[in-house]
Amino acid sequence: MTSEKLAELSIFYGAVQKNKELTQLVDLLKQKPKLNNVLEIGSASGGTFWLWCQLASSTAQLTSIDLPLGRFNNGRTYNEKLLLGYKKPNQTVSLIRKNSHSPKTESKLCEVLNEKELDLLFIDGDHTYEGVKDDYNRYSKYVKNGGLIVLHDIAHHDQVKDCQVDKFWNELKQQHSVVEIIDPEYDDRGWGSWGGLGVLVK
Ligand SMILES: C[S@@+](CC[C@H](N)C(=O)[O-])C[C@H]1O[C@@H](n2cnc3c(N)ncnc32)[C@H](O)[C@@H]1O
Repeated sequence: MTSEKLAELSIFYGAVQKNKELTQLVDLLKQKPKLNNVLEIGSASGGTFWLWCQLASSTAQLTSIDLPLGRFNNGRTYNEKLLLGYKKPNQTVSLIRKNSHSPKTESKLCEVLNEKELDLLFIDGDHTYEGVKDDYNRYSKYVKNGGLIVLHDIAHHDQVKDCQVDKFWNELKQQHSVVEIIDPEYDDRGWGSWGGLGVLVK
C-alpha cells in the first residue's frame, strides 16, 4: 500500500494527524529495517496504532499505553476489541490502560518487553512540557541504538496553551540530530498551527 494511502486510512481509523506529515513519516519508516518492537504512548481511538500494526513485521510485539479519560483525549472513544483486531495474526499486542508517568506502568512495560529493545517509540500522550519530558526520559532508554523516537505535536499550538511539546522538542533538538516533519500550510481541522512530527535516531 502507498504511504499516502496508509496515512489516509490511519486518519480514517481516528489518528489525530495531518495526512502529509504522516505520509512522510511512513516513507521514512519504510526505509528502515522492519519494526519488531513498537511502543506508543497515547492510543486514543487507535488510529496510529492501526498504522504501526500495518508497518511492523508479521511477528512484531506492539504495546500501546493510554490513560482512561487522560488529558488531550478530547472525548475520543477507546474500544479494546477494535484495537486488538488491528494486529496481524502472529503479532502480539499489549494494551496498557494506565498513566504513562507511573513507575508501575514502566514495570508493566518491562514485563512485556522481557529484555527486548524497542525499534520505535511514538510519544503522543500527555502533551504538557513536564508530561512529554517524563515520557521521553522514562521510555527512551528502552529504544535500541539506531531505533527511532518520534514525538507528535512539535509545532507550536496557538489555541491549546497546555500543548507544550514544542518547548521540550526545542531543547531536545539542541542535543541530538533530528528530522522535523511539519506541514505549516494545511489546517483541515481549523486549529491554526498544530501537528508536526519530530524524529530522533537514538
Ligand atoms: C492526542 S491523543 C493520541 C492520538 C493517537 N496517537 C492517534 O493519533 O491515533 C492523546 C492520548 O493520550 C492519552 N494520555 C494523556 N495523558 C496520558 C498519560 N499520562 N498516560 C497515558 N495516556 C495519556 C489521552 O487519554 C489520549 O487518548
